[in-house]
Amino acid sequence: MSELDAELADIFRQEAVERLDQMDVGLLAVEAGDAGAADLDALFRNVHTIKGAAGMLGLDDIRALAHAAEDILAAVRTAGTFPPQLAAPLLRTTAVLRSCVTGAQEPVSEAIADLTAAGSALSAAPADPASGGASGASPPDAPPAGAGPPAADGPGAAAAAPKAGERPLRVPAQKIDRLLDVVGELMQSRGQTAHSLGGEGQLSPELADVLAGGDRMLSELKDTAIGMRTLPLAAITRRLPLAVRDIALETGKEVELTVAGADTELDRVILESLHDPLAHLLSNAVIHGIESPAERERAGKPRGGQLEVRAVPRGSLVEIVVADDGRGISPEVAEQARREGSLTDVLARPGYSTAAELTDRAGRGVGLDAVNSYARSLGGSLEVRSEPGHGMAIHLLLPVALAQLEVLLFERGQAVYGVPLGAVEEVVLITGTITLEGRPALDIRGQALPVADVAALLGAEAPPLGARSPALLVSAGGRRVLAVCDAVLGEHETLVKSLGPLFRGIEGYLGAAILGDGRIALLVEPLVLTRGTAHALRVSAPDAAGPVVAPKVLVVEDSFTVRELQRSILEAGGYPVVTARDGRDALGVIGTDPEIALVVTDLDMPQLDGLELTRAIRAADQRSSLPVIIVTSRGSEEDRHRGIEAGADAYVAKHDFDQQALLATVERLVGR
Ligand SMILES: Nc1ncnc2c1ncn2[C@@H]1O[C@H](COP(=O)(O)OP(=O)(O)OP(=O)(O)O)[C@@H](O)[C@H]1O
Ligand SMILES: [Mg+2]
Repeated sequence: MSELDAELADIFRQEAVERLDQMDVGLLAVEAGDAGAADLDALFRNVHTIKGAAGMLGLDDIRALAHAAEDILAAVRTAGTFPPQLAAPLLRTTAVLRSCVTGAQEPVSEAIADLTAAGSALSAAPADPASGGASGASPPDAPPAGAGPPAADGPGAAAAAPKAGERPLRVPAQKIDRLLDVVGELMQSRGQTAHSLGGEGQLSPELADVLAGGDRMLSELKDTAIGMRTLPLAAITRRLPLAVRDIALETGKEVELTVAGADTELDRVILESLHDPLAHLLSNAVIHGIESPAERERAGKPRGGQLEVRAVPRGSLVEIVVADDGRGISPEVAEQARREGSLTDVLARPGYSTAAELTDRAGRGVGLDAVNSYARSLGGSLEVRSEPGHGMAIHLLLPVALAQLEVLLFERGQAVYGVPLGAVEEVVLITGTITLEGRPALDIRGQALPVADVAALLGAEAPPLGARSPALLVSAGGRRVLAVCDAVLGEHETLVKSLGPLFRGIEGYLGAAILGDGRIALLVEPLVLTRGTAHALRVSAPDAAGPVVAPKVLVVEDSFTVRELQRSILEAGGYPVVTARDGRDALGVIGTDPEIALVVTDLDMPQLDGLELTRAIRAADQRSSLPVIIVTSRGSEEDRHRGIEAGADAYVAKHDFDQQALLATVERLVGR
């Protein structure tokens, strides 16, 4: 597929999914009996556009199925009535279309046959929309379609075309990511400039002015670039009513879902990944929370349960609450949570389930744990609140943008760390402690909080703490701790992209931030501090005095994020690191720095790529035996073969990239 084709396919996918979401909203309204003529028009427009675009891209299955759906809608228009029971087959159609659009190889013939059958039933009995009743929700007075004035509001409005001037311009996500990469480079180079120019007082007023002007523009550029990555929560909540409807039908519950704050903006990478966790919380609420209509009546509640998804912006974070008015936790669980200190810990424990039987939907006891780890992997948190008989509310705190994380920086044993600002309640000075259950604690406004050395919490080595040391009051997962360090350095806004997937595997860390002076701060997951568990990765504090003994590694990579990530992984593993942006740059570095003992290189780079670089090293007189590791997104056997043929010693695919494997490979090649 050419680059242009790939870009077009990406744009088509995004647009089609959006249109299918709109269709689902319209079809749910049809099923509930409150659709108007505008809904039929919108359904038509959406399916017609999908059909046309699929045809142009040669996606014949999608085109054929969209065409069949269009035929049914045409029949509805002719019949002058939209029977609610037609909604179900059309909803199945949008589901099949969605999976085809997103790449699943699903056969469409069954869905087409399904639609054709529904269509002939329609032409056979146009005057009796109440017949069939497949949907279980079919008020007999379906409004005439295609007649009367279009509805001004209601579900149809969701499908209305955007106003002129607001027309969205679709840009492939990779281009925006590249833009953010460049902004990250610029910010780092700005930090280095400031550092090498010395303090503010050293500059001439003219130069200070010029720099300040540049800073303003840079900050605006950064905000704009980040803004391009955000989308309103509505982009995913539109699909939720359908999921809730299905589970309610299956389990015989009556449920009404409301969504508040759907215009709250979130990073689109986060949004895409948020759908499944959110759907799971809703499914939990319907299955475990909401009682059957009869049971609710006995408890003096209305037959139908209320389910709410609510989003509230909180600075650089967004709080998403999923709340139900069901039975909540049992008194025994409430008691257990009191004993163990956190309801979240009890319910999110892997394997914990109160489901009576194991089904597709519940019983494994892994759902809440997965949602909890998901929130943590983004630098957020999850908290469960519930009272017996009074429903449950799950509070998810997530960063607005992955690119932007506000952290509080602190120092311990000469290493710099950052922790998401949202998790820090305050900073206190520790002068003396009390003892709580044999462990040091401090009374903060009447509550005894545990006190611990941050180095011990992180499993890092550090000299003893001073007599008067600052501590961060960190709160996460329903627990609080005072984490003591050597010094608090202040707030810092870091530009980090896609921390989650790349850092998967490094227990306890969200990623790394590059500071103005070029130092790296490891970003600590708040839960690691409050849980007090040691982590897998050992952090060796840089030894300022002694000579460098570990072999020096050259990281060659054109992506800023990946480069700095690899640097932080290798440095945390105890290796000094220098970097280069491409092969040509790397050859220059190797020529001037005889200490370089190993090269870790990307494959696709401008100027001189990874293969050419490897060949050039092998052809050089002096350093021809320098070990080379190729890290790349191209993981095929053939690529691997080409890499080895060029003279690489190891080949690590980015998609199964894990930092322990990289460190192990480095160790094998330059063994310390
Ligand atoms: N909204 C809710 N109301 C009441 N209890 C709930 C609610 N959500 C979760 N729970 C409780 O938390 C437990 C754990 O939920 P979790 O999603 O981890 O597991 P599960 O739903 O039982 O199984 P699965 O992993 O297959 O989803 C549930 O078994 C239930 O006891
Ligand atoms: Mg579950």
